[in-house]
Amino acid sequence: MKPVKPHSIRVRAASGDYVVLCGQGLLAQAGRHLLELGRFSSVHLLTSPKVWRAVGAKLSSGLRGIANLHVHKFPDGEAVKNLRTVEAIARRLVRAGADRHSLLIAVGGGVVGDVVGFVAASYLRGVALVQVPTTVVAQVDSAVGGKTGVNLPEGKNLVGAFYPPRLVLVDPEVLKSLPKREFRGGLAEVIKYGVISDARLFAYLEGKMDDILRREPAALEHMIRRSIEIKADVVSKDEKESGLREILNYGHTFAHALESTTNYRKYQHGEAVAWGMMCAALLGHESARTPADDVARIIALVRRIGPLPPWPKVSPTKLFAAMHADKKTKFGKVRFVLSPRLGQARSFDGVTEQKAVSVLRFGPQLILRPSTRLNLKKRHA
Ligand SMILES: NC(=O)c1ccc[n+]([C@@H]2O[C@H](COP(=O)([O-])OP(=O)(O)OC[C@H]3O[C@@H](n4cnc5c(N)ncnc54)[C@H](O)[C@@H]3O)[C@@H](O)[C@H]2O)c1
Ligand SMILES: [Zn+2]
Repeated sequence: MKPVKPHSIRVRAASGDYVVLCGQGLLAQAGRHLLELGRFSSVHLLTSPKVWRAVGAKLSSGLRGIANLHVHKFPDGEAVKNLRTVEAIARRLVRAGADRHSLLIAVGGGVVGDVVGFVAASYLRGVALVQVPTTVVAQVDSAVGGKTGVNLPEGKNLVGAFYPPRLVLVDPEVLKSLPKREFRGGLAEVIKYGVISDARLFAYLEGKMDDILRREPAALEHMIRRSIEIKADVVSKDEKESGLREILNYGHTFAHALESTTNYRKYQHGEAVAWGMMCAALLGHESARTPADDVARIIALVRRIGPLPPWPKVSPTKLFAAMHADKKTKFGKVRFVLSPRLGQARSFDGVTEQKAVSVLRFGPQLILRPSTRLNLKKRHA
C-alpha cells in the first residue's frame, strides 16, 4: 500500500515536545512511526474489546514488525474510568513483564486515553506513552494536551496527572465505525474550536456540514486536523491551564451544570456542550459582547449537528448553583468564556448572576425558535 504522508503538528510541553501525526490510513503504517521513537523492551497496546473490533485488523497489520508486542483489552465505559481499573491494568502489566523501558499504547476513545495515560504516568513512576485516539472527542481533544486521569465517586477527573505522550497517531478513517451519537457529540467540540479560535474553520463547517455528517473522508480529515492544530496551539502556550487554556471551556460551564444536575444520564458530553455553546452565545450577547449575527450563526450551526435531548426540567437557580459548584469557579465567582466575535474568546468573571439566570430561563426557548430573537430583557419585560 502507498504510504500516506500525514500532517505533522508539534505540541510544546515542559517535559519535551511531541508530535501529533494526522492522516487517512495512518494506522496501517503505525509501526514505522513507532520505530522512529527508539527501542523499547516491550510494547503494550491497551484497548477495549469494542474498539479493537473496529480498528484491530488495520492496526495489527500496521504493527507487524513491532517486537514483543502484547495486546491487553479492558472494558471502556465512563463507569470503569476509576482507580480500580488503573490497578487492574498496572497488575496486568507487571504480570506481562512491563518494565521502565516499555511503551504503552492507548487505543480508544477519551476513556481509554485518560485511564491508560494515568497508568503510564504512574506505573514505575512513568513509562513512555503513545496515544491512538479513535473517537472525534479523543482525536480533537483528549489525546492532545497531556491531561490524564480518572473519576472518583465524588466527581469526574478528580485524580490525575499532566503526562504528555511521546507521539499521537490520528487516523480519521477510524471514525467511520463510531456510533452516530458519539460522532455527532464530538462535532460540538469541533464547532467550539471554530468559535474560540478560527472563523475560517467555522465558515468551513457551515459549508461542509452535510459532507461531515456523511463522514466524507476529505471533510473529516480537514476538520480533525484543523481542530488539533488549534488545541495544540493553545496547550503549547498554556500547558497547565493557568490562563489561555481556559478558552477551551467555551460552553462547558453550562454543559457541566446540565450534566451534573441530570446525573450524567441524559446527555452525552458533546450534546451538553452543544446546548452550552448556544447558551454561551446568548450570554455573550446579553453581556454586550457577541454580535447578534454571530449568535445566530452559532445557534444555526450547532443545531445542524442533529436533535439534542431536550433541556432538563431543572430550575434556572438550581442550574446556576451547579455552575457554582463546578471546579472551574475561581475565588467563588462563576467564570464564563465568551466570544466577542467568531474566532475569538476569553474568560470573564464579571457576568452577573441575573444575566446568567436569565439565559438559563429564556435561552432554551429562544434557541429552539426558527428565527432567534435575541433580546432577553425585552422578553422578560
Ligand atoms: N484528557 C482530556 O483532556 C480530556 C478531554 C476531553 C474529554 N476527556 C474524557 O474523555 C472521555 C470521553 O471520551 P469519548 O467521548 O471518546 O468517549 P468513550 O471513550 O467513552 O468512547 C465512546 C464509545 O465509543 C466506542 N468507540 C471508540 N472508538 C470507536 C470506533 N472507532 N468505532 C466504534 N466505536 C468506538 C467506545 O468503545 C465507547 O463505547 C470522558 O471521560 C472525558 O472526561 C478527556
Ligand atoms: Zn468537552
